[in-house]
Amino acid sequence: MTLIAILPGDGIGPEVTAEARAVLEIVAPDLRFETGAVGGAAFREAGHPLPPATLHLARRADALLFGAVGDPACDALDRHLRPEQAILGLRRELGLFANLRPARLFAGLEDASALRPEVARAIDLVIVRELTGDVYFGSKGRRDRDGTREAYDEMRYDEREVARIARVGFETARTRAGRVCSVDKANVLETSQLWRDVVVEVAADYPDVALTHMYVDNAAMQLVRNPGQFDVIVTGNLFGDILSDQASMCAGSIGMLPSAALGATGKGLFEPIHGSAPDIAGQGRANPCAAILSAAMLLRHSLGREAEAGRVEAAVAGAVAEGMRTADLGGDASTAAMGEAVRRRLA
Ligand code: IPM
Ligand code: MG
Repeated sequence: MTLIAILPGDGIGPEVTAEARAVLEIVAPDLRFETGAVGGAAFREAGHPLPPATLHLARRADALLFGAVGDPACDALDRHLRPEQAILGLRRELGLFANLRPARLFAGLEDASALRPEVARAIDLVIVRELTGDVYFGSKGRRDRDGTREAYDEMRYDEREVARIARVGFETARTRAGRVCSVDKANVLETSQLWRDVVVEVAADYPDVALTHMYVDNAAMQLVRNPGQFDVIVTGNLFGDILSDQASMCAGSIGMLPSAALGATGKGLFEPIHGSAPDIAGQGRANPCAAILSAAMLLRHSLGREAEAGRVEAAVAGAVAEGMRTADLGGDASTAAMGEAVRRRLA
């Protein structure tokens, strides 16, 4: 039987994952769910943001539905005990190196975008972000240099890591408009020069895909100037983190964007790209759409249930088109009302 690990986490995580789970229960009644503790919630419960029991559940599960982690009350903790270590640890332990972050504008949300409607309407892209390397996982630390405090984070990539994420980028482009833009900082960084060299080598296997390169600063500018020019953006861990938050606001709201973290097998972790939003936690105001759309990605990428994934996405699009708006979209619908509007369309 297919087992889904539900990892609600902190802040609005529990509220939005509850709505997403309820959607899965309708379109895939055969699934089995088990809940695990992560983040600040897990630290308080078990003394660690990613307790052994949760890691064990994550290893047993066929797919993971993740809420959000992050808790201001934990800011003073040592880095290895911070809530964020839950998601970083899961990515590392499960080898989830490929992060798909699609951004498109749902019809009716033109006004929610930070861009002019005619510019925003053209957004339909996927950021393919490398997720287990880069400055995130290089050696880091503090040292004393002549009585002055110094900190360092090593940025590193090897060719194997770059090649496998490049392949995900090219394969993704094949299912879409056939264009890959590789984003780096090769004019300054040696890791980026290796990145670019390897992407060009891998491109030889994909003559049907058009490859371009862009420096990350220019990419940030182009994303707001003319996001419609992008189909697939393939980039490293840090640049992908930043650009995907930016893309989300171009597409209306960070409350609408799902993501998938995939490894070499079909198993994946699916989560909204938004954080725990402690300022609105527990108020029933969070937008559950990103979590629900993450559940759709779970159906597609880990379970191979494309039809059900499409139904869920259509239900979200329908609810938004009929005018359902949570606060992030300029309305006053509650989390539960938005979830309910989606489920009504699936019943
Ligand atoms: C994300 C988040 C994480 C990241 C944090 C919570 C560690 O911002 O998934 O984009 O930086 O990868
Ligand atoms: Mg981020």
